[in-house]
Amino acid sequence: MSDVKVIAVAGKGGVGKTSLAAVMVKLLAENFPDKKILAIDADPAVGLSTALGIEVQTTIDDIRKEVVSTAEDGDTKSALELLGEARYRIFDALVEQDGFSFIAVGRPEAAGCYCKINSYLKEVIGILSQNFDYVVIDGEAGIEQINRRVMEKVTHLLLVTDSSKKGTQVIQTINEVAKELVMYEKVGAIANRLPSKEIINLLDTGEIPVLTGIPSDGALAEFDLKGENVFYLPDDAPIVVGAKEALTKIGILS
Ligand SMILES: Nc1ncnc2c1ncn2[C@@H]1O[C@H](COP(=O)(O)OP(=O)(O)OP(=O)(O)O)[C@@H](O)[C@H]1O
Ligand SMILES: [Mg+2]
Repeated sequence: MSDVKVIAVAGKGGVGKTSLAAVMVKLLAENFPDKKILAIDADPAVGLSTALGIEVQTTIDDIRKEVVSTAEDGDTKSALELLGEARYRIFDALVEQDGFSFIAVGRPEAAGCYCKINSYLKEVIGILSQNFDYVVIDGEAGIEQINRRVMEKVTHLLLVTDSSKKGTQVIQTINEVAKELVMYEKVGAIANRLPSKEIINLLDTGEIPVLTGIPSDGALAEFDLKGENVFYLPDDAPIVVGAKEALTKIGILS
């Protein structure tokens, strides 16, 4: 049994999942230069690559299509079986960066085939996790990927919310489902984009412990505007400080 730590970031749309996942990859790469770190963009809407300053060539969906179309008996075998026979192809899609590797699920063109790529993604997470020490997954907004057991192997579940009622409700719903469908060891909430410090005490996250509160940071918006990646963020940027606190409290960083 490997003791890989699989960290997934989930929550409502637009709360800062991708930004936080990217900062976490940066922190892990800095703190564990001798460990193998993998960043997975599991959101078909894409974003983690930009936040990490990566240009994506091949995605998991490209491999899925390729495997299905090149297989002679593609009609009779399921894409998942074929994937098992072509494991090495997944490794071809890894982008090697300084200090970490990256892979993106990609965007299926045909509407309605997200479930196919999701079951594929689940297998890919399983296969790749065996070869890494730390995996950070930037999930799709909402509960779909938890429901479809894509996140089954996640060990540390980070639920991001803003200060809205909707945000805290979504993370509580995700946690309820995750208790059944995810084998996580630890769960915690990150309250992001807070209009004031005090508001953190008013958030109702139910039984999910709040790991950190991150203020709304105007500099980050400006950063985003310029399309800069997180490696340019200063160590004292609120989102970096917050991500560090969250990873420390959940037992990843010491
Ligand atoms: N603490 C913060 N202060 C100010 N802006 C922030 C903060 N955190 C994130 N943002 C900004 O909010 C926007 C959405 O962030 P991000 O893309 O990380 O969210 P997301 O949850 O991944 O969204 P989606 O559900 O669309 O994938 C971005 O423009 C980002 O720069
Ligand atoms: Mg995102």
